[in-house]
Amino acid sequence: MNSSPPGDAPGEGRYGEAFFRPDRAGEAERIDFGALAYDDITMARLRALGAGPGWRCLDIGAGTGTVSRRLLGETAVASVLAVDRDVRFLDARPAPGLRTLQADVTAPDFAPGSFQLVHARFVLMHLSERDRLIGRFAELLTPGGVLVLSDAVDLTSERTPATPYSTAMRAMWQGLRATIGTDVSSVPSYPHLLRGAGLDHVAAEIHVPPLVPGSAISRFWADTWQRSREAMVATGLVDDAGIDAAARYLESDACAALSAGMLTAWGQKPQGPTG
Ligand SMILES: C[S@@+](CC[C@H](N)C(=O)[O-])C[C@H]1O[C@@H](n2cnc3c(N)ncnc32)[C@H](O)[C@@H]1O
Repeated sequence: MNSSPPGDAPGEGRYGEAFFRPDRAGEAERIDFGALAYDDITMARLRALGAGPGWRCLDIGAGTGTVSRRLLGETAVASVLAVDRDVRFLDARPAPGLRTLQADVTAPDFAPGSFQLVHARFVLMHLSERDRLIGRFAELLTPGGVLVLSDAVDLTSERTPATPYSTAMRAMWQGLRATIGTDVSSVPSYPHLLRGAGLDHVAAEIHVPPLVPGSAISRFWADTWQRSREAMVATGLVDDAGIDAAARYLESDACAALSAGMLTAWGQKPQGPTG
């Protein structure tokens, strides 16, 4: 029996097909706005976890490759394999040590090797079978290697004041879930899931970028609404005028809202008997 309320059942569509198609003008720029908002936080965490000389790294769903290239340029890791279902943005910006692989990471035969760092940001939330995938990604670690997962967390509650922004965000999460299965509700469970995958030294943190006019995160949400407008309107929670009002609100002095955050959770593969 399906106990989901009407309009809340996970969709059968896929990221990059119904929405966020890489062949649509401006999609690389949209991903880059997200990267601008979060890359410094991601890099600080990856450095703190030891990313550095000699490490072989896997960047899953690498997008435009900003983290892959910063790992190579700033921490001098040995190599980064950047995997994506569509590698056009990665191949457009090559870097020494960066290899790309076009692959669907949900495929049962996805086995790209073993790595000291496996990193996936803003990918798992768009995929079903999160538990299986976390287990699979953990298997790709060398002993002592770290799996680092980052995804969005919705920090609103029933007491969150209604603003054009909060209305648009509620419609976005619900619309994306109904169409392509995006689900941020299990993101706070990542530490538990990492532990269940056999990893040690599990911990997590959340970063919330300030929603200020002209910021990268404000541009990111406004762009994301434009690209998922149809799914948002189909929820009945917002109409086209409401989405336009939310975009204007983000760029106005009236804006007083809390962005969705990025939760980063990590865990380390045990060293083994001789480690
Ligand atoms: C929101 S973007 C995040 C990009 C990058 N990780 C970042 O944080 O800037 C999600 C990326 O995951 C990729 N992706 C989605 N589903 C995938 C799958 N099943 N296999 C491989 N890549 C996938 C998309 O093509 C897209 O580039």
